[in-house]
Amino acid sequence: MSKNILATQSLSFELAPGGALRGELRVPGDKSISHRAVMLAALAEGTTEIDGFLEGADSLATLAAFRAMGVAAEGPSAGRLRVHGVGLHGLREPAQALDLGNSGTSMRLLCGLLAGQRFATTLIGDISLSRRPMSRVIEPLRQMGAHIEATPEGRAPLGLLPVEHLHGIDYALPIASAQVKSSLLLAGLYAQGETCVTEPAPTRDHTERMLGAFGYPLRRAGNRVCLSGGGRLLATPLSIPADLSSAAFFLVGASIAPGSDLTLTQVGMNPTRLGVVTILRQMGADIAIERPRELGGEPVADLRVRAAPLHGIAIPEEQVPLAIDEFPALFIAAACADGETRLSGATELRVKESDRIQVMADGLASLGVEAEPRPDGMRIRGLGAAGLLGGGEVEAHGDHRIAMAFAISALRAAAPIRIADCANVETSFPDFAGLAAGVGLPITELRELERSA
Ligand code: S3P
Repeated sequence: MSKNILATQSLSFELAPGGALRGELRVPGDKSISHRAVMLAALAEGTTEIDGFLEGADSLATLAAFRAMGVAAEGPSAGRLRVHGVGLHGLREPAQALDLGNSGTSMRLLCGLLAGQRFATTLIGDISLSRRPMSRVIEPLRQMGAHIEATPEGRAPLGLLPVEHLHGIDYALPIASAQVKSSLLLAGLYAQGETCVTEPAPTRDHTERMLGAFGYPLRRAGNRVCLSGGGRLLATPLSIPADLSSAAFFLVGASIAPGSDLTLTQVGMNPTRLGVVTILRQMGADIAIERPRELGGEPVADLRVRAAPLHGIAIPEEQVPLAIDEFPALFIAAACADGETRLSGATELRVKESDRIQVMADGLASLGVEAEPRPDGMRIRGLGAAGLLGGGEVEAHGDHRIAMAFAISALRAAAPIRIADCANVETSFPDFAGLAAGVGLPITELRELERSA
């Protein structure tokens, strides 16, 4: 019997303690918008020019999936990507399973977009993605007439079987999820009749905005959005703002590191994403919103952030969906704040790229911070304005946002911090270490070859 030996590179970050963030920085393009840009451009009639595209592994996985379905594209290079749309019915059956790597957004949105095709597809992902819940999209898509196979636990690999047509449904989302909403709207493009989605709380609305930019009629009223199948998408140039979720690490880093004065430029300021700014300001952060303007149908601004003493708060539950990806960074802010920070109503954090409640609580504890994980949130006792985190080793568990959150925590540490399993930072923030070093956070990257049988 022969054994397959796999060699993968593991990446650790090592950070010296202290320092300050200063200067100006444009973080890479928005991940959510980059995925949607490729998807709608591929289904449009005509050629779409995109700039500001995120060249991270997640959005590149989406692009590779469409190339495998016969969509021609040039780039990306320096954030520029040109996609030659094939029209709503122009995709071709891929020769192999579509490998979506670590990307939950790719898998859930493609599940909807491909559920109504006349060919079969299989969607696969890495270990983390294969553990994440997919029933939240499979169940409503089956109600629309889709034939989807999954593991008994409702996880990937997902087999999408050909269908003649889907039919629209009126669906009330049981959880506030932009991925589920978007998946159903994309399926709705292929459905007979009207597809309506009502969400329990506002979630990011990039799909709705971008469908509008491609000329697709949709009706929005309050927390409900509806569209009818059978329309057309027409190519349109797209400019993608810098990702507020990537900027968040620097908003926190500059807030907690004395002497910091940092400007993050052209950051996406979609109101459905602004929770991190609202929460940090409630904690006492000094964030100025400068030059608010529009870019590609999305609001953007420059954010100037200066160090400020933070205090603990009870995070308002209605802010949770608006800051859902920013809690790893916000937990670091809480660890450096004066007093206790409490988070509840955030069970979703347990099913992200890692269990972000447990993994952050474990990492904070190794750095000497009192953090009590709860089923739906966390309590963190902050170290106060003069307090420093201890140094030590933490595990990122392959979760990009955990790795970056602990990287910025070193700005307020008393000793070096080493973070293991950081390679997935590449999924959302290519060259994080290079850009961080440019504004005052030097990161030593340690690569080792790992072998597994
Ligand atoms: C995303 C929605 C959110 C978010 C994810 C990106 C999107 O997921 O956590 O990083 O692009 O629609 P949920 O919809 O599962 O909350």
